[in-house]
Amino acid sequence: MKIDIMTLFPDSMSRVLGESILGRAAKKSIIEINCIQIRDFTDNKQNQVDDYPYGGGWGCVMMAQPLKACLDHILSQSEGRKTRVIYMSPQGQVFNQETAKRFVRDYDHLVLVCGHYEGIDERFIEECVDEEISIGDFVLTGGEIPAMAVCDAVCRLVPGVLADEECFTGESHWDGLLEYPQYTRPEVWEGRAVPEVLLSGNHARIRAWRRKQSLIRTMERRPDLFARLKLTDKEDLELLAEINRERAAAEPGPVFDYRKGEPKDINSIMEIVSQARTFLKSQGVDQWQNGYPDASVFLADMDKGACWVFTCEDEIAGVIAISMGPESCYEDMREGKWLSEGTPYGVVHRTAVREDFRGSSLASEMLELAADLCRGMGAVSMRVDTHRDNLTMRRFLEKCGYVLCGVVYLDSGPEKGRERLAYEKVL
Ligand SMILES: C[S@@+](CC[C@H](N)C(=O)[O-])C[C@H]1O[C@@H](n2cnc3c(N)ncnc32)[C@H](O)[C@@H]1O
Repeated sequence: MKIDIMTLFPDSMSRVLGESILGRAAKKSIIEINCIQIRDFTDNKQNQVDDYPYGGGWGCVMMAQPLKACLDHILSQSEGRKTRVIYMSPQGQVFNQETAKRFVRDYDHLVLVCGHYEGIDERFIEECVDEEISIGDFVLTGGEIPAMAVCDAVCRLVPGVLADEECFTGESHWDGLLEYPQYTRPEVWEGRAVPEVLLSGNHARIRAWRRKQSLIRTMERRPDLFARLKLTDKEDLELLAEINRERAAAEPGPVFDYRKGEPKDINSIMEIVSQARTFLKSQGVDQWQNGYPDASVFLADMDKGACWVFTCEDEIAGVIAISMGPESCYEDMREGKWLSEGTPYGVVHRTAVREDFRGSSLASEMLELAADLCRGMGAVSMRVDTHRDNLTMRRFLEKCGYVLCGVVYLDSGPEKGRERLAYEKVL
């Protein structure tokens, strides 16, 4: 790869680009970088390269003539090469790793034109430039720093410049990801230890850890890049699922308060019941579909001090009826047996959570409150019933430690005679 840089400051650029990795690669003739003084190609005695802008305004504009003469000289020495003439410009496409890869893949000669002052005569761009490249949405005083950035990013991808291809294929932006964090000696610095896995010597674990860190970093720092990723590799998908599980577990949930329900809450409660009814219907569960429980049922619960509401930021988030047994229909257990017989138990009914809190900790917090209150009233266990088809509730009860004991039949209300599965949890 040969890179010719047209500039007004060739000496300072040559010094920087002649250092370190690029300097060594140039010595081995793997790359060739030339910084060429535009001023040497003027056709006026004063070696003037710029002039006032037509139409007035601040600053000067670099003239087309010396730029064209300088470029012609460069091209005359590069015959047979695949050349790309690039003007460094804040108005160009923003440079990235893909552009660097394209330059290395498609060309073996780049000419980087550095503007200064107010920029360069537009006619030179129209006549001679193949593309304009910016290094970001900000304006520098000259194109030298952008040209050095492009030169460096391109040259390190040229085979032989770095020790191994892996030096750049594993790095940030190569495959759309950011690189994992790196550590070197000592093992502990300022009380911060190197992650244990990196000391394990287990290469498979290290590789998986690094890939996971890359995914996390990209997700957190560059969601724009992450959104463009098309992950299909099985290991990546498994790591992603693991990350999502860990993030969900770490996320602080909403904070709930609770108090006894009051008549002023009835509209909010009925809205939540209506949401629950719609949800049950969507799940094919024939429960609460005939108007039960209506407002009078909750008002009656309130009269008995059994209705509790949970709130989030002062809005009703869930409702639950909590009372002590005995419950007449629970006394006639069929096809099974309660875990405890003859001991006081608490009962939970009419549990509903607002739709935006489904899946949150609210439902389990409501059951915990029920258990606490009933334990305080001498309960040895908690009992609850639900519809056979209400799989969401059944799974939830089992997750909370409730055991399916048998079948009971409702003995009052509009759902009288209907079968319900009976659950119990010993406190
Ligand atoms: C002060 S700038 C000219 C800006 C120009 N008047 C404009 O508003 O678009 C002078 C030179 O710096 C270089 N330059 C400045 N910002 C750049 C950037 N973000 N990327 C690439 N080159 C830049 C260009 O070569 C430009 O000709």
